[in-house]
Amino acid sequence: MSENTLSPELIDRLRNAQSVAALTGSGISAESGVPTFRDAQTGLWSQFRPEDLATPDAFLRNPQLVWDWYAWRRELVGKAAPNAGHQALVELEELLPKFTLITQNVDGLHQRAGSRQVIELHGSILRTKCFDENVPVDVPPESDARPPRCPRCGAYVRPDVVWFGEMLPREALDAAFIASRACDVFLSIGTSTLVEPAASLPFGARGGGAAVIEINPNPTPLSEHADFVLRGSAAEVLPLLARVLREA
Ligand code: OAD
Repeated sequence: MSENTLSPELIDRLRNAQSVAALTGSGISAESGVPTFRDAQTGLWSQFRPEDLATPDAFLRNPQLVWDWYAWRRELVGKAAPNAGHQALVELEELLPKFTLITQNVDGLHQRAGSRQVIELHGSILRTKCFDENVPVDVPPESDARPPRCPRCGAYVRPDVVWFGEMLPREALDAAFIASRACDVFLSIGTSTLVEPAASLPFGARGGGAAVIEINPNPTPLSEHADFVLRGSAAEVLPLLARVLREA
């Protein structure tokens, strides 16, 4: 894919946008070596059952299994580095009058790339919280308990991520809907657009009159509703968009 693949209309919408919102999913981190969830063969949910690992019940049934699985993923993420896609989004934040980055990812790679404001809809694998009190709790570095216990109340400590059946953090979700509704251009990047409520954000943006641009090598349920579909990887396409803005 080259810059010539971008239609003049898309370039125009982007250059004239006062406010842009971007929603990222696990696809943007794929090129950093972090697995997605639903890609055949490589996706986490093709190898593991979410009901065994990503629900409060699963944690209560087998806290060690769940803790260890997240520890494995945390280690994977720790070894990964942000890629050109993450970096291009840092540039977009610098170049655009208003830019809101909303992510479903828990890997912290946007922040490590240098994005300053990131709305985390599904929490962060890098943080931990008390299972009972739902408040942030740090695990002492010397702890080798799996899982460790909350120093305040003795309950288990769990990863600060959103599990199936749980509510998303209210403030993050409200901010995401407000930014989507108010933007002129909405970028949906590397997400299958299957998991609610994040999957509704591009539709909220459309309802507010935004141009929706999908960046994904594969079709999703959003594709037929998007104004522009860029069939390429995030690390390939996002730097082209940043260049368009740089050269404006
Ligand atoms: P999915 O695994 O559902 O979708 C990943 C998307 O990324 C697919 O549409 C791929 O085609 C696309 N993709 C793969 N490689 C790409 C690349 N290099 N560049 C751009 N796109 C690429 O992951 P999510 O949509 O993030 O939730 O999944 C949403 C939520 O479901 C996750 O946050 C997680 C999961 O269950 C929770 O854990 C709560």
